[in-house]
Amino acid sequence: MKIEKEVSLTPYNTFGIDAQADWLISYDSIEDLKTLVRDEYFQQCRYLHIGEGSNLLFLANFHGIVLRSEIKHVSLVSQDETSVLLSVGAGMIWDDLVAYCVEHSWYGLENLSLIPGQVGSAAIQNIGAYGVEVEQFIRRVHTLHRRTGEVRHWEREECDYSYRHSIFKQPEQADWIITHVELELSKQPILHLDYADLAQRFASEDCAPSLEAVREAVITIRRSKLPDPKELGNAGSFFMNPVVPASVAEALAQQYERMPQYPQGEGRVKLSAGWLIDQCGLKGYTEGPAGVYTHQALVLINHGGATGTDIARLAERVQQAVQEKFGVELRPEVRYIS
Ligand code: FAD
Ligand code: EPU
Repeated sequence: MKIEKEVSLTPYNTFGIDAQADWLISYDSIEDLKTLVRDEYFQQCRYLHIGEGSNLLFLANFHGIVLRSEIKHVSLVSQDETSVLLSVGAGMIWDDLVAYCVEHSWYGLENLSLIPGQVGSAAIQNIGAYGVEVEQFIRRVHTLHRRTGEVRHWEREECDYSYRHSIFKQPEQADWIITHVELELSKQPILHLDYADLAQRFASEDCAPSLEAVREAVITIRRSKLPDPKELGNAGSFFMNPVVPASVAEALAQQYERMPQYPQGEGRVKLSAGWLIDQCGLKGYTEGPAGVYTHQALVLINHGGATGTDIARLAERVQQAVQEKFGVELRPEVRYIS
């Protein structure tokens, strides 16, 4: 366990916001975590568990304890002819896990290549990209309760997964710390190539691409669209894509015939927040050090020296513009920490 006092959080959030935490505690075993949750001072303190900080916006210094997992093991729980079951520490870097699975010819996670963050957060956020969501591969999520020390696991069906949502995002479940995640992957070559960018990339190939080729294609596409947080502070998509009733989508389609729409079943349609923001003429728009990314309007950028409040103010401006033009509400995917 490593305990540090008065720590800059700049390296711990991909927006690169300059905020400070009273304490930063990293632990690398469940035993350390259990010791910590029994501690009286820890019990009383305000706390925030972070991963790589790639979906956080710090609005102020954090007065309390910031906690970070360094539990990084991967172990093979069981396997049969068609699948493997892995147990993965919550602190493992997500993309390291994807690379490891591709090396072992285990299918499933390749479309989720290069998404920043840790494995524990992936299971909370239900990360998704290129037609795949991580919930499809999660079998069980293991947790420890921050106040009671209770250890419990959640079967996938109990996790209430949907688009960018899980039960762990609900305020009443906020005290569960993810310790490790069990994922089931396939040994059979099942690929998901329907997403437009991928379908286009492999359209001219005669036979199915290899697992490595899919991972590489996803990495190339992502690099062409999304800024590298090491060069330009950001948290990926700032807003979720709005899901609206089919009647609303239909009315919008009549007015804007090129508006991308994705039917979700049950009379719901997903719209593209990036397209809506783009149509408001905000691509490349800046307000001081905060800006809308020039290549993807759904990404907000710290051009250098922005505070969390600068980014939040810009986000509000974007929300207002979309609301006024389309009557659609954009909700942040990024979690604000004040
Ligand atoms: P953090 O941002 O640190 O935390 C996220 C949440 O998880 C917080 O609420 C935190 O309190 C909680 N948390 C973290 N670890 C634990 C734990 N062990 N126990 C309890 N709570 C915990 N997301 C996508 O879905 N698809 C994408 O394609 C995608 N692309 C991105 C591209 C870029 C360039 C960037 C910067 C981000 C992108 N994201 C994407 C968003 C982000 O990568 C994901 O939300 C990711 O899962 C966040 O992981 P993290 O470890 O950084 O979590
Ligand atoms: N579009 C525009 N202008 C823009 C941006 C997008 O017109 O500035 C249009 C595109 O042309 C396309 C549509 O909007 O028709 C969708 O764009 P894209 O394929 O880039 O995907 P997205 O909906 O903007 C979502 C996820 C990403 C994920 C990609 C790929 C959300 C909120 N975002 O983006 O996830 O990587 O699909 O699957 O669901 C994240 O969550 O942080 C993230 C990056």
